[in-house]
Amino acid sequence: MDKRPVPTHVGIIMDGNGRWAKAHNVPRVMGHNAGMQAMKKIVIASSELGIKYLTVYAFSTENWKRSTEEVNGIFKLIVKYVNSELEELDKNNVHINIFGEYDMLPKASVDAINRMVGRLDANDGLVFNIALNYGGRDEILKSVRSLVSECVREGRDPSDLTEDDISRYLYSGSAHFDVPDPDLIIRTSGEERMSNFLTWQAAYSELMFTDTLWPDFTPEEYAEMIDAYANRDRRFGGRKSE
Ligand code: FPP
Repeated sequence: MDKRPVPTHVGIIMDGNGRWAKAHNVPRVMGHNAGMQAMKKIVIASSELGIKYLTVYAFSTENWKRSTEEVNGIFKLIVKYVNSELEELDKNNVHINIFGEYDMLPKASVDAINRMVGRLDANDGLVFNIALNYGGRDEILKSVRSLVSECVREGRDPSDLTEDDISRYLYSGSAHFDVPDPDLIIRTSGEERMSNFLTWQAAYSELMFTDTLWPDFTPEEYAEMIDAYANRDRRFGGRKSE
């Protein structure tokens, strides 16, 4: 039996859709469409590899700076994704959480997301978190606001607050979706930065980078990375394991 450790939670920064589109001489939104196709396969592969939680960075709080055409193109893709994938996701017992506030998206996208989240709510297989209008600092700020309100409401002394209190009000925290910190974060396309992704939760995550552009990222390369994760020596600030 293969006893190599599999990460419980994998985070992915799906980068390189724009460069893929440029290389193929097609509009940027076609790159995002190709990225969505890659994402579909990675969701299924995650279940098959025994990963329990997958979090992908689909749209950041900074992505609003892009052209209206590109931003609307990504939002339309969400509707397309729900229409084409909902049955398959349900068949695979996938549960979906959204990390981020999405009520300001176009109504068709909001409706599609709500339909998808509702339909998959009772599923207890892979927990697939989609970070949408998400920013790590924004998430921490929202948590602090909730905590300050709690202190005022319940008369708690701020000097008694702990790291767990901040964690609790993050999207991943027990006040929301209760998702453990990511063990592994992957970023594609050769860029090596975190770009405001899971800023609090990534404190001890292993990081892996690949030059592959996201639309070209395959379940095979993913499986190789998951296999390589087993060779990482995670010490969480402690001593090297003997
Ligand atoms: C980064 O590539 C990618 C994004 C900002 C969008 C990712 C979105 C998808 C893969 C579609 C998600 C779909 C659903 C249903 C959640 P980039 O545009 O920054 O690439 P570049 O750095 O090469 O320009």
